[in-house]
Amino acid sequence: MSNNLLKGKKGIISGALNNMSIAWKVAEKAHEQGAQIILTNAPIAMRMGEINGLSEKLGNAPIIPADATNMDDLDNLITKSMEHFGGKFDFMLHSIGMSPNVRKGKHYTDLNYEWYKQTMDVSAMSLHKMLATAMKKDALNDWGSVVALTYIAAQRTFPDYSDMADAKSLLESIARSFGYHYGTAKKIRINTISQSPTVTTAGSGVKGFDGFINYSEAMSPLGNADAAACADYCVAMFSDLTRYVTMQNLFHDGGFSNTGVTQPVVERFATDI
Ligand SMILES: NC(=O)c1ccc[n+]([C@@H]2O[C@H](COP(=O)([O-])OP(=O)(O)OC[C@H]3O[C@@H](n4cnc5c(N)ncnc54)[C@H](O)[C@@H]3O)[C@@H](O)[C@H]2O)c1
Repeated sequence: MSNNLLKGKKGIISGALNNMSIAWKVAEKAHEQGAQIILTNAPIAMRMGEINGLSEKLGNAPIIPADATNMDDLDNLITKSMEHFGGKFDFMLHSIGMSPNVRKGKHYTDLNYEWYKQTMDVSAMSLHKMLATAMKKDALNDWGSVVALTYIAAQRTFPDYSDMADAKSLLESIARSFGYHYGTAKKIRINTISQSPTVTTAGSGVKGFDGFINYSEAMSPLGNADAAACADYCVAMFSDLTRYVTMQNLFHDGGFSNTGVTQPVVERFATDI
């Protein structure tokens, strides 16, 4: 159901790889709520061509390939987006993450440091690069909103999340630091949404993901939040109803982050002494 929460708003959505991607759902929901959208992803991620189907569903939303670590690509993305929209726009979604160390099974205590740099660049510095490019080009309307997706491994240790945990800590810090500067300069708000484990291509890359997601479900009073619910939250953050929320890490996790233990988990560990 549409409440036209984003009527008249325009924005860029990164990271829609396939219909399991969180960004895919955000694009669908933002469109449903009246937004005009431009889709972007790494050129290599376009090979499967699935993004074309999403573009059609969104009324032929333009697709502008950009490697989010490459400043020329980002310059082109922002310039072309402004051309398409006929000026400034209102929101951006950063839904990008990748760790070569996790992908190739390198243990956290024995990282490949070139890959570690790539993890940081793709998963965290890319947010800084997107924001810096948008700011230089004065691409966002006042009170615009930028959201990046993160995970609670930034605050607490989940061993198999490996160097992605470090990247998420940096990502959340960039949201705060850039949020200060872009906020004072242009009233742009920047937040991270810390999402429950979700079955997607990136999510399932984490070793033992099954156990991980089931544990999280058992430890969340409301259960794990799914990608569609995360998309609803992103839409709310892009809307004018959240104008004074900035520089925050917002947990969207069914209560997991504030739960010490749940009754089902206690019962699982109970022994008759
Ligand atoms: N799935 C989960 O359990 C979960 C939980 C919390 C947070 N997140 C975060 O949500 C975001 C989206 O992930 P997802 O779960 O939808 O998985 P996904 O695999 O569908 O999305 C990850 C995206 O990152 C893109 N990407 C990778 N390298 C890139 C680059 N150099 N330039 C541009 N794009 C690049 C990929 O093409 C892909 O579209 C990530 O930041 C992820 O860490 C996921």
